Parts: sequence; C-alpha cells; structure tokens
Amino acid sequence: MKTTTLLQARFWISLMGVLALLWLPVTYGETTGKDSRVPKPSIQLPAKAKKCVEPVDIMKRQHQNFILHQRDETMYKGIRTKQHSLKNCVNCHADPKTNSVLGKDGFCESCHTYAAVNIDCFSCHTDKAESKDAAASYRQFGDLGNILDNIIEKR
Ligand code: HEC
Ligand code: HEC
Ligand code: HEC
Repeated sequence: MKTTTLLQARFWISLMGVLALLWLPVTYGETTGKDSRVPKPSIQLPAKAKKCVEPVDIMKRQHQNFILHQRDETMYKGIRTKQHSLKNCVNCHADPKTNSVLGKDGFCESCHTYAAVNIDCFSCHTDKAESKDAAASYRQFGDLGNILDNIIEKR
C-alpha cells in the first residue's frame, strides 16, 4: 500500500515539474517579448505636440473611423475641417528624420505592418509633412493640389 501512494505522489510531483517547465517559455516570452517574431512597431510620438486630436486610447482604436468619416464629409459634402484631416495627421506624425509617416519606422506604416493592415491612402495623399509655403498655396484648394502633385511626382 505504502509504495503505491509513494509512487503516485512521485508521479504527480514530476508531472507538475514538467508542466512548470512547459509553461516557462510562454510566460518568459510574454514578459520580455523576446520570442515574438513580429517586430514591434516603433511608435515615435511627435516631439513638439503634447496631445493628439482625440484622447490617445480613443485614437488607438478609432483613428480609422475619424479619417474615413472626414473623407466622406469632404468628398460627398464638401466640408473641409482640420481636426480629423489626413494632412493634419501627417503634419504632426511625420518622422523628423524622413519627414514621412511611411517607411520601416514611419508612424503609420510601422504600426500597420505590425497589425497587418494595408491602406492605399498614400498612393494619392502625400505621406510627407508639408512646408509652410506649400501649406499656404494649397489651402485654397483643400488637399486637391497636394494630391495632384503627389500623384505626378510618383509617375
Ligand atoms: C485615388 C486617389 C485617392 C485615394 C486612394 C485616397 N484619397 Fe482621400 N482624397 C482624394 C481626393 C482627390 C480628395 C479631395 C481633396 C479635396 O478636395 O480637398 C481626398 C480627400 C480626403 C480627405 C479630406 C481632406 C482632408 O485631408 O481632410 C480625407 C480625410 C481623405 N481623403 C482620407 C483618405 C483615406 C483615409 C484614404 C485611404 C483609406 C484615402 N483618402 C485614399 C483622393 C484619394
Ligand atoms: C497636433 C498634433 C497631432 C495631430 C494633428 C494628430 N496627432 Fe496623433 N498623436 C499626437 C501626440 C502628441 C500623440 C501622443 C499623445 C499622448 O501620448 O498622450 C498622438 C498619438 C496618436 C496615436 C496613438 C499612438 C500610440 O501611442 O499607440 C495614434 C494612433 C494617432 N495619434 C493617430 C493620429 C491620426 C490618425 C491623426 C489624424 C486624424 C492624428 N493622430 C493627428 C499628435 C497629433
Ligand atoms: C498604434 C498602431 C497604429 C498606428 C500608429 C496607426 N494605425 Fe491605422 N490602424 C491600426 C489598426 C490596428 C487598424 C485596423 C483597425 C480595424 O480594422 O479595426 C488600422 C486601420 C487604419 C485605417 C483603416 C483601414 C481600412 O481599410 O479599414 C486607416 C485609414 C488608418 N489606419 C490610417 C492610419 C494613419 C493615416 C495613421 C498615421 C497617421 C495610422 N493609421 C496610424 C493601427 C494603427
């Protein structure tokens, strides 16, 4: 009798040991992120601005709805406002080094690559922050002049 209980105890103890070992890499990866094969997005926030156009937790989840809504307002109703305009996002979020939101470390692209999101917006819209002069001359045409320039440049 005694030996079977001892054997049983041994069995359970070693089983727990094996389970603990199996669990280790999982928790290790979670806390260090080391075993993730997808490179983490490099989210570099604008140095000059302190706030986004909406609270950050909302932006993280809803930014696409804001810009897509803004696009529809502009395209269908001709309403042009600055707050959720794509140009405005780019002006704040362009990387100071590349002047762009695209590229490996670009604000929009690095996170979208991570999240496996594809957007075609920048085939027409510029990914570059605009200079003050350009801003002044484009203002009267909305974003249209900027978009045409960008398309011609890519041809
Ligand atoms: C085929 C070219 C094209 C593509 C692709 C495109 N747009 Fe546009 N977009 C335009 C044009 C043209 C306007 C009108 C500009 C104006 O009249 O001010 C515009 C206007 C907008 C506006 C309103 C102007 C502003 O900046 O507030 C937003 C926002 C916008 N687009 C967002 C997007 C988003 C987001 C995507 C990708 C999901 C996208 N667009 C893809 C051509 C394009
Ligand atoms: C006036 C400059 C400014 C404009 C315009 C702006 N942002 Fe931001 N954005 C910021 C700043 C600053 C933060 C970080 C704020 C913080 O951490 O409290 C931020 C944070 C974010 C984040 C969260 C990043 C993270 O930490 O994961 C997203 C997503 C984002 N912005 C997208 C956008 C989009 C899309 C637009 C255009 C509709 C936009 N932003 C317009 C300045 C701006
Ligand atoms: C912190 C990560 C992060 C950043 C930074 C970010 N995005 Fe996104 N974006 C996402 C995710 C995740 C989705 C998909 C959301 C969904 O499908 O529910 C998305 C979706 C979108 C969509 C909608 C795509 C579609 O076809 O539905 C647009 C447009 C977009 N983002 C524009 C931008 C722009 C412009 C910037 C830079 C100014 C930006 N995003 C920065 C994470 C990010």
